[in-house]
Amino acid sequence: KTAAIVGCPFSGGQPKAGVDRGPIHIVEAGIVQQLEGLGWKVKFDGHHEFEDINSSLTSDPPIGLLKNPRLVSRVTEAVAKVVGGHAQNGELPVTIGGDHSLAMGTISGTLSKYPDACVIWVDAHADINTVESTDSGKTSLLTRAIRLAYRNIHGMPVSFLMGLGSKVPEFSWVKPALKTDSIVYIGLRDVDAGEKKILRENNIKAFSMHEVDKYGIGKVVDMALDHVNPNRDRPIHLSFDVDALDPSVAPSTGTPVRGGLTFREGHYICEAVYETQCLVALDLMEVNPSLADQPSVEQTVAVGCSLLRAALGKLWSTL
Ligand code: ARG
Ligand code: MN
Ligand code: MN
Ligand code: MN
Repeated sequence: KTAAIVGCPFSGGQPKAGVDRGPIHIVEAGIVQQLEGLGWKVKFDGHHEFEDINSSLTSDPPIGLLKNPRLVSRVTEAVAKVVGGHAQNGELPVTIGGDHSLAMGTISGTLSKYPDACVIWVDAHADINTVESTDSGKTSLLTRAIRLAYRNIHGMPVSFLMGLGSKVPEFSWVKPALKTDSIVYIGLRDVDAGEKKILRENNIKAFSMHEVDKYGIGKVVDMALDHVNPNRDRPIHLSFDVDALDPSVAPSTGTPVRGGLTFREGHYICEAVYETQCLVALDLMEVNPSLADQPSVEQTVAVGCSLLRAALGKLWSTL
């Protein structure tokens, strides 16, 4: 068994500097050696800096309301090729972000090799805004202002992967290959009004923190797997946004939201996914080591590494 670390120092899908340092910190903390310690052969050929894309783009004005559209599109397209290539080689890609717009690339890459894959999206946010989704049906001055605000693409990758909303030619490489019944969310607690409408209208399954409180994480993960993978025979792509965890557990992230998953709940999800033996791709996104103080950064990086170890079988490792 081989894991391929895909380090993506990329922040173009959101406005805060520093999230591009996330993968560098995780690798420096020793993730390669840690996964080797679990019995994995680990490939890591350096971070993907996307220098060619950066140098070829002199300016990247908004398209409609989208911020940095060309940069995000080209980088995520490159990520799709890298992740898809590792998957074709029979390796398990472990993509470390970077902001969550990268999942447009990672999930496209996974689906190119495993068209029947399902996605478990662990996040405080649904990241399913479309080009036209708005914060409300109301038309107060404030909502009108919000409607007109430029959008950070890290809040949108899921709608692009599903082909929801009007098409943006710049993103024509993205195949709408993810079906609405092939994703399940865990950990949601900050979902925009327009996103709630999209989730409801498309019958997309979501277990928010309310359900985690009500049923407990064990039952929630069972129900989530029963929804997307009832026979436990479909390949699983696990996309873990570190802000799914409570800010007391993972403080160094760009959009922290109170009331999140505990350390154990986050790990339980990863362990349960490993236990299915269906995991084919893994993302860890939104670790931003420039937000918060040094101990908080170290804590967040350590928790991130720990989640990756849990998803790659630490509990069952006999090495
Ligand atoms: N819903 C907000 C937006 O669309 C926040 C998204 C946060 N996403 C994330 N990957 N942290 O901008
Ligand atoms: Mn690589
Ligand atoms: Mn999030
Ligand atoms: Mn996210």
